[in-house]
Amino acid sequence: MIPYEKFASVYDRLEADRFSVRMAEYTLKILNRFEVEVDEALDLCCGTGTAIKIFSDRGMVMSGLDRSREMLKRTKEKLRGRNIPLYCQELPRFEIREKTMSRAPLRGFGLVTCFYDSLNYLKNERELKAAFRAVYKHLRPGGWFVFDMNTPHALKTIWGSQPPFSGVKDDVAWIFRSEFFRENTTANCYVTLFVKSGRSWKRLDETHTEKGFSDKTIKSLLKDVGLTVRGYYSCLTFEKPTGTTNRICGVVQRPEK
Ligand SMILES: C[S@@+](CC[C@H](N)C(=O)[O-])C[C@H]1O[C@@H](n2cnc3c(N)ncnc32)[C@H](O)[C@@H]1O
Repeated sequence: MIPYEKFASVYDRLEADRFSVRMAEYTLKILNRFEVEVDEALDLCCGTGTAIKIFSDRGMVMSGLDRSREMLKRTKEKLRGRNIPLYCQELPRFEIREKTMSRAPLRGFGLVTCFYDSLNYLKNERELKAAFRAVYKHLRPGGWFVFDMNTPHALKTIWGSQPPFSGVKDDVAWIFRSEFFRENTTANCYVTLFVKSGRSWKRLDETHTEKGFSDKTIKSLLKDVGLTVRGYYSCLTFEKPTGTTNRICGVVQRPEK
């Protein structure tokens, strides 16, 4: 089973969606900084739809995509009454068309976003490049792509060496353990949840695997598919990343021509 199918039931309850609130607000600052007006936007790996709701409140015409049906179920509940198209598709090679016909042209967006290290779930450079290519194809000329990713440093030092953390609320308890694999710069996070179900507790387990990509690789893959890097920051700031940056944010544009 893919990750998040079980976690979905408590994702917002554990306040895991709070980071996307920060990313949405930061993205609005980025758009302001680059003087970008967005009409239609697509949130990739949208999770439970928190960022979509924020952008939609700001007047953007939103769409969302995620491979987890359970996460999309929560998005649908959160966005009830808003008529926002949601697509259950898997990166890297997603396709959103103007109409459901297979030959209809791909939809073009003024902004594509992908928050909370969702791109780190791609297994290798080939997949990351294919995802960037698919983003390019779904951007209108001049359109923007804003994403964040965990750095190899974060996977090594946070996922690789921090002790397990755990917590409990009235109806849910959680334990997160993680380890880093130096040989392929990946890390696993083992999520164990106990969710109250009537008078008993149900145990749910998931393994999340993330891959770390160097700044050089990310920038070169973006360039390879024709995207221009307009900003590359230590995430949530406008500072350049350093060797100890845990999360980067890429601000990328499809050229006008
Ligand atoms: C950490 S959550 C982030 C969710 C949301 N963006 C947020 O900020 O709260 C990662 C999300 O990426 C989705 N995801 C991971 N790999 C994916 C893939 N290859 N294709 C589509 N969705 C993917 C998961 O289902 C999950 O909803």
